Amino acid sequence: MSKVSIIGAGFVGSTIAHWAMVSGGCQVVLLDIVEGLATGKILDLIQAGPIAGHAVDAVGTSDYADTADSDLVIITAGVARKPGMTREDLVQVNANIVAAVIKEVVPRSPDAILLMMTNPLDTMTYLAYKLSGFPRERVIGQAGVLDSGRMRTFIAMETGISPHNIHTTVLGGHGDEMVPLVRYSNIGGMPLSYFLTDEQIARIVARTRDGGAEIVRYLKTGSAYYAPGASACRMAQAIAKDAHEIYPASVFLQGEYGMSDICFGVPVILGRRGVERVIELELNDEERAALRRSEYLIRSTMASLKLEK
Ligand code: APR
Repeated sequence: MSKVSIIGAGFVGSTIAHWAMVSGGCQVVLLDIVEGLATGKILDLIQAGPIAGHAVDAVGTSDYADTADSDLVIITAGVARKPGMTREDLVQVNANIVAAVIKEVVPRSPDAILLMMTNPLDTMTYLAYKLSGFPRERVIGQAGVLDSGRMRTFIAMETGISPHNIHTTVLGGHGDEMVPLVRYSNIGGMPLSYFLTDEQIARIVARTRDGGAEIVRYLKTGSAYYAPGASACRMAQAIAKDAHEIYPASVFLQGEYGMSDICFGVPVILGRRGVERVIELELNDEERAALRRSEYLIRSTMASLKLEK
């Protein structure tokens, strides 16, 4: 049975713990810096087990010793955005939190795969990659599964076709400049244009880019967690089951798509070792220009980062 530690027992972390316990097949450790928070949430979840029929193999803690020898560590610790904020506005405060978490996690689980959830996602994944010293295969950012899931949802809402028949590809950074690739998306194998007008497609692309902010505007005090939690669990399962499944994920690039020294959302094959392969799609000029804009936004965020000594 694999051991999954989730750092941060806020909305995203506790939702992941819930999904993971319902899926079963792993031992869950939920940790938060706030004493008692993870313990209380896990007690509640364990007590749901006999009623809902899910696993009860879980620990809530504030002690990093409990995370030792994890196979997967999912990092959600950090602050969520509020209305009017971009994910990039969180960079300084969350960088210090992620740095503190990496320092505790890495020596205790030197062989783990790190799955990053904290925003701004690509910059936090880059930071985790640099500070952990892990190979790039084992430091992965979750963003594209969520963004492409949102796009599938909006296409399903617009066409009335089941999201199970809808495949979408969203690349680039997890920010306003993310790149929904219409040419690499389809409905039952057919191009989106078979079912949707150009105007509808443009509306879906814009809503996908704004998907997180739309929820923040409603919630007012925090950001999304059900779909981010489900996305993390989907990736965790692909890793645990050595599924060799293709997902968009933020990974450290070494020349792919003409980029280096950056974590950026690209399609990868996921298995037990983490990222087995980065897939390079053939892009046209317009798509390449959109990726460049996304790259520019991430690099500006990275440049604004100052780590506390
Ligand atoms: N170690 C462990 N936990 C920490 C630390 C730390 N150093 N610092 C903060 N935390 C915890 C907080 O105590 C809080 O319980 O992280 C949790 C964050 O939870 P929420 O505030 O509910 O935020 P959430 O909605 O879960 O979002 C977390 O995920 O999607 C991203 O943008 C989002 O960056 C944000 C992160």
